[in-house]
Amino acid sequence: MGIENLEFATDPRLETMNYEPRTTQYEIRTMQIAMIQDKIVPLDKLEPVYLDRGLFFGDGVYEVLRSYNGKIFALEEHLQRFADSLAGIGIAGVDIDQIRSRVRKAFESAGIANARIYFHITRGSGPRDHIGEANLKPNFFLTVTELGDATQAKTKGIAVSTHPDWRWKRCDIKSLNLLANVLARRDAAQKGCDEAILVDEAGFITEGSSSAFFAISGRTLQTTPLTANILPSITRKFVIKAAENIGLEAVEKSLTHQQASCSDELFIAVTTKDIVPVVKFDGKSVGDGTPGKYTKLLIQEFRKFTQ
Ligand code: PDD
Repeated sequence: MGIENLEFATDPRLETMNYEPRTTQYEIRTMQIAMIQDKIVPLDKLEPVYLDRGLFFGDGVYEVLRSYNGKIFALEEHLQRFADSLAGIGIAGVDIDQIRSRVRKAFESAGIANARIYFHITRGSGPRDHIGEANLKPNFFLTVTELGDATQAKTKGIAVSTHPDWRWKRCDIKSLNLLANVLARRDAAQKGCDEAILVDEAGFITEGSSSAFFAISGRTLQTTPLTANILPSITRKFVIKAAENIGLEAVEKSLTHQQASCSDELFIAVTTKDIVPVVKFDGKSVGDGTPGKYTKLLIQEFRKFTQ
């Protein structure tokens, strides 16, 4: 709906304001206002969504989960991480059972077999103020959308490029503040790459801009340990299980850029695509430039969890 159709568009106070400056010396009025594109709106008529703290401050947390063939994958793990993220930023009183019901209800209503379910909670809506009022009501938002086909990426592999990790020091919280992730990803896209791999100030890889990162050398699978510097990826947990199932040793130890670029195999892991082989790392071919044999085995092994 265009804003001209909304109730506030007919507010008589706006008749002069939208078309003429307040010039007459006899008529002195003041009104707190907002402006949306070219439209002036009295502040008291503004829809709360415009005052969402998620928008002003990224003051909220989110989750992304998916379904495989009509079945939601790892719902409890995602709900637990969501509860941890809420606790991490001090949003109290959210009923996780209610979130579970909303997720299920939305998923069933959409009827999409292979769906991406996104949801977030922000601290609430209110005048822009860093602390915010004490009694704000959290806002919940959710979408269910069709997942794109990742077959090409999974069979051919992707190119990645590195980028400095400019994020804050609590990346274990799945917060709505994703500007550093967005900028890194945009940089990768400009270089023709599908993911940005973030490198911290000490030269160690943390994770992808929206994925976990893994290297395989010999029969060892290596990935960044779970600290406050990375998101505790749900897919990562299943990848480690899959690795053990196929006889790889999983080592949780940070990798340098140099170590990654000399590894036999690289891949990223994320809910929406599970395992995606990396065949180019900062312009250099990984192994023979095609998806590695253990990565392909891991993709097969992972599939068992999703059936
Ligand atoms: N991103 N690391 C980061 C920084 C991420 O944003 C994500 C996921 C992951 C992988 O986590 P998981 O396996 O739980 O999906 C790791 C989601 C999908 C996103 O922001 O869209």
